[in-house]
Amino acid sequence: MRCLINEHQIAQRIGELAAEISRDYSGKPLTLVGVLTGSLVFVADLMRRIELPHKITLLQASSYRGTATTPAKLQLTLDLLPSLVGRDVLLVDDILDTGQTLSTLVAEMHRRNAISVKTAVLLWKKARTTAAIVPDYVGFEIPDQFVVGYGLDFNDEHRHLPYIGVVE
Ligand code: IMP
Ligand code: MG
Repeated sequence: MRCLINEHQIAQRIGELAAEISRDYSGKPLTLVGVLTGSLVFVADLMRRIELPHKITLLQASSYRGTATTPAKLQLTLDLLPSLVGRDVLLVDDILDTGQTLSTLVAEMHRRNAISVKTAVLLWKKARTTAAIVPDYVGFEIPDQFVVGYGLDFNDEHRHLPYIGVVE
C-alpha cells in the first residue's frame, strides 16, 4: 500500500471545504445527504467542521461492474431518506469516477423537490468522468488509479485506513 494523501492533508482540505460550504449555505435549510458506504468517514468529518445548523441523512448506492464493455449497474436504497421538500441538498460522496452514481442521485433529489442540489466529493477522477456532471466541492483531483482507505474499499476491505492509499 502506497500513501497518496495523508491524514493531515485530508483534515486540512476538509477544513477548507467546510469553510466554503458554511459561507455558501449561510441562512439556508441545508441537508447533507451522505452516500453509503464509501462516504461514511468523509461525511462524519465534514459535518463536524461545518459551522451552520444543518440536517444529515443517508442513502446507499452500489455499482456492480461487469466486464469493461458493460456499463456498471447502479443499485440504490433510498428507504432512509426523509422528505427533502424545502431543503437545500448537498450530496456527499467519497469519489466521483464515471459520474453515473452522482448524476443519477442529483436527478433523484430534484425529483423529490429539493430547493437546490449540489455535490461534494473528496476525490475526483476527472479523466474518467463521462456523465454530464461537474462536482461543486472537490477535495482532491486524482489520476486514474484505484484508491482505498478513508471509507473507500476494494472488495469491502481497507475502508478503515485513516489515509488514501494506492494498492500496488
Ligand atoms: P461512478 O458512478 O463511476 O462515479 O462511481 C462512483 C463509485 O464507484 C464511488 O462512490 C465508489 O464507491 C466507487 N469507486 C470508483 N473509483 C473507486 C476507487 O478508486 N476506489 C474505490 N471505490 C471506487
Ligand atoms: Mg460509493
